[in-house]
Amino acid sequence: MRNPARTPALATLAFSTLLAGGCDLGLPAGRTPHREGNRLDMNDQLKLKPQRKDIFGSRPTGLMEPQPGTVAVGEEPYPYAQNEADKAGAELKNPLQPTPEVLAHGKFVYENVCITCHGPRGAGDGIVTALFPKPPSLMTQRVRDWPDGQLFHRPMRGQNSMPSHSRQVDQKDAWSVVLWIREMQKTEPVAPPPAAPAATTAQAAAPPAPAPPAAPAKTGGKS
Ligand code: HEC
Repeated sequence: MRNPARTPALATLAFSTLLAGGCDLGLPAGRTPHREGNRLDMNDQLKLKPQRKDIFGSRPTGLMEPQPGTVAVGEEPYPYAQNEADKAGAELKNPLQPTPEVLAHGKFVYENVCITCHGPRGAGDGIVTALFPKPPSLMTQRVRDWPDGQLFHRPMRGQNSMPSHSRQVDQKDAWSVVLWIREMQKTEPVAPPPAAPAATTAQAAAPPAPAPPAAPAKTGGKS
């Protein structure tokens, strides 16, 4: 059924819609819009495509940013800033117990996420350390003395050249990893302190000199 009086108006609308926004109908390359008379197929209409230009506004992409303060379902905001490791250590308690299940989960997460850099037993000899800065051993007395919360803080917020892992591991994963590191600390020998703890830049290829007792000045970003 066609209403002749409305046809010109519809045609103008369809036409101007096509012209607007650089004709981004979200079609795959090479496909022409499908029409019936003057009507566009409903599938072929101006729309926001996340990876394309925002046709309705002035933003460079159609991707929407969440409103500030938005919390995703199941997300637990982590309140400590990067330089608040001490505070996290003093205030946070590990909510998990080292049951066989939790340890198995911690081992799983460690061996999927941390092992590439920290090595199979935390010695800092992971496979990528040929290219990436070598992390200090997780078996040092320093790390053993940290409360669980401080150890937990590193994957959540990162430290110097280690990025935050909070997108890959949730808080349960991170607390389980802490317990798995504790478990490894029970059987691994205490590692000597790193020559230059928490280096900010890639450590030079020079072989580490036997650690002199003089403690180097703490570098920025580390707490
Ligand atoms: C991409 C490589 C990489 C991955 C993956 C990684 N780390 Fe690290 N990590 C580092 C580096 C490098 C450092 C040393 C950073 C610095 O210079 O302070 C470090 C430091 C640490 C420290 C502090 C050690 C100290 O003595 O200062 C802890 C704890 C830690 N990482 C835990 C983890 C855990 C747990 C995971 C897995 C969830 C993980 N890391 C994944 C590279 C990595």
